[in-house]
Amino acid sequence: MSDARDWDPLDPETFRDVTETYRKMRERCPIAHSDRWGGFWALTRHADITRVASDNETFISSIQNLVPMSPRSGVPRRPLQVDPPEHAHFRRAMNPYFETERVAVLEPTLRQLAARYLESLITKGRGDAMDEYARCLPIRAICAFLRTPEEDADWIQARSSKYVEAISKDDRATASALSGELDQYARRFVANRRTAPLDPHLDIVSGMFQATIDGKPIADEIIAGFVRGLIVAADRSTSNGIGSSILHLAQDQNLQNYLRQNPSRLPDAIEEFVRLYAPSHATARTATREIEIGGKTIHAGEVVAMVFLAGNRDSQIFDRPDEFDLNRNPNPHLGFGHGVHKCAGQSLARLQLRIALEEFLARTSSFELDGTIVFNTWPEYGPQALPIRFPS
Ligand code: HEM
Repeated sequence: MSDARDWDPLDPETFRDVTETYRKMRERCPIAHSDRWGGFWALTRHADITRVASDNETFISSIQNLVPMSPRSGVPRRPLQVDPPEHAHFRRAMNPYFETERVAVLEPTLRQLAARYLESLITKGRGDAMDEYARCLPIRAICAFLRTPEEDADWIQARSSKYVEAISKDDRATASALSGELDQYARRFVANRRTAPLDPHLDIVSGMFQATIDGKPIADEIIAGFVRGLIVAADRSTSNGIGSSILHLAQDQNLQNYLRQNPSRLPDAIEEFVRLYAPSHATARTATREIEIGGKTIHAGEVVAMVFLAGNRDSQIFDRPDEFDLNRNPNPHLGFGHGVHKCAGQSLARLQLRIALEEFLARTSSFELDGTIVFNTWPEYGPQALPIRFPS
């Protein structure tokens, strides 16, 4: 780790023990440079990440917001790929639809979905909790949120999972082709809703048709960019979050039993799961000017990754950072990001995690691991497959 330029997020060595790798990076080389994907800086300390996420003049997301860069076509995907002040205008139009009370109307649908997928898994007695449960729920939750038929879920997910895989392998051609298909889906979706709008108080897209920014209506192309961002990012992060939580519980029978008997403690457990396993491993900004961080000079145009997974285990902020602590309070984790771009869908994410785990615990008396776990590493973090069994 002495030569930061040797650090490589694709090296299996990096993730053999990710806790240890990031501990060493935080201690010895907290502003690490990697030559991978055209070169980028990786910040692993909580304080440096919050500094970057809070300085929207020096660190912008309109040029590159992910490492490696995700293909961009057409208008930027708002709100993530635009900077203040435009960012704030767009968030103002969309935020009300993500309020806790508003997303709560989805609870019965989410419970039905959880029950449906759990039933078949439990009947078999064992299975892959990622493929047969964790990945099935969030995309359907987004369809329910967008008030579009559930049939769209499989079509979207077939493309988005290959799209994310292509990005991790830096297969630009495949990623661009799939991204184009997802763009087209979002455009078709908005065009159809335009011809048959729903109640604007209930439906975010119909609400956006009526909203104005600086006195002007929001163009359909812009709304399509927003839908496009949602159907990929919100799905993948939540699936990984559900999967990592189930994995943790499968390895800790005491906690599993405790939460089964005390489901009111699930919200606190979920904050710890999101802290420990940061499903959005790292996102990025581009520097607009030369700036020094921790003795390293970052030049204008260079890309800086905020490694949330590492910042969430910083001992400067968290006591016993690698341990699960149900009573951790406060818990200023960065799992949902920090600053103006902090996750707009937090309430929906928390609701989904709570229902997915509540149902999983309530409908089982015990579950345990049933094989070896392989993790997705970068840019998302979570189990690729999650073999579990339900002892009778
Ligand atoms: C466990 C699940 C989730 C995690 C861990 C997560 C994490 C994040 C993070 C870290 C960011 C900030 C990115 C950055 O600053 O570069 C973000 C932004 C965002 N998330 Fe989530 N997210 C989750 C679920 C969701 C869901 C379910 C939705 C909506 C249905 C959603 C919608 C968004 C949006 C729209 C943004 C962009 C906000 C902005 O740029 O102002 N997320 N999320």
